[in-house]
Amino acid sequence: MKDVPIAATSCGPARLDLLQSATGLFLALFMWLHMFFVSSILLSKDAFWTVARFFEGYFIFGRPIPLLVSAFVGFIFFIIVAHAALAMRKFPATWRQYRTFWSHMRAMHHADTTLWMVQLVTGFAMFFLASVHLYLMATHPELIGPYASADRVWSGRMWPLYLLLLFAVELHGGVGLYRLAVKWGWWSSNDPLRSRLRMKRAKWGLTLFFLALGLMSLAAYIKIGIAHAPSAGELYLPDWLQAQP
Ligand code: HEM
Repeated sequence: MKDVPIAATSCGPARLDLLQSATGLFLALFMWLHMFFVSSILLSKDAFWTVARFFEGYFIFGRPIPLLVSAFVGFIFFIIVAHAALAMRKFPATWRQYRTFWSHMRAMHHADTTLWMVQLVTGFAMFFLASVHLYLMATHPELIGPYASADRVWSGRMWPLYLLLLFAVELHGGVGLYRLAVKWGWWSSNDPLRSRLRMKRAKWGLTLFFLALGLMSLAAYIKIGIAHAPSAGELYLPDWLQAQP
């Protein structure tokens, strides 16, 4: 029997692929929760204040500990860096490779190939957009609240960045989950064409839902930020806390 070359039997690439899928799935699920927490501003200022203080341990320790949020942001940043590093293995490396991919994509008119390009462009954009947001969250965790967040969005001119980041993250996450489902055979059936069509519909449904939720929340922060601009910097306190001696 002929010897099999060691490279051909290595599990390394498969392990890296699994790790890329796992970090991507974790981040996509985190972003769903993140959007629900951020959109609590649509319920009321008190609701968002409660969510923000909850993550600072206020209701457990009796006082806010913003460092808990910084530590969690650090953890999320670490997962993002790991996911991006693993994904970069698949980026075209030279201008010639980009040109070849681009001409194949245009010639084939194959939706999933085009979605891969969407994934690459939005992922690249997030290197820059997400870093700004995460840095602010890590260094000023105490400034998360109905007025502080709205002031950052409006008076701090963060809304254009959030708008771009929102579209990038929702497109990237939606396409990513769809690709994971196709790759690992989730929800596959005897009729692959039909199950792929169903997954595509679910993907667009989720993307549109979270885009709508994100846009409505951003509009709410902008509205509060405009009204609060003359007193920008002042923090929100719920009525029950103001009534305390
Ligand atoms: C633990 C990490 C994170 C924390 C604590 C956090 C917290 C927040 C908070 C409090 C807001 C409201 C606006 C503000 O206060 O400035 C916000 C908005 C936003 N965040 Fe994050 N975030 C985190 C991670 C991420 C990541 C990883 C992404 C995307 C890659 C992201 C994307 C966004 C977007 C797009 C908005 C605007 C939301 C909207 O359109 O309503 N965030 N985030």
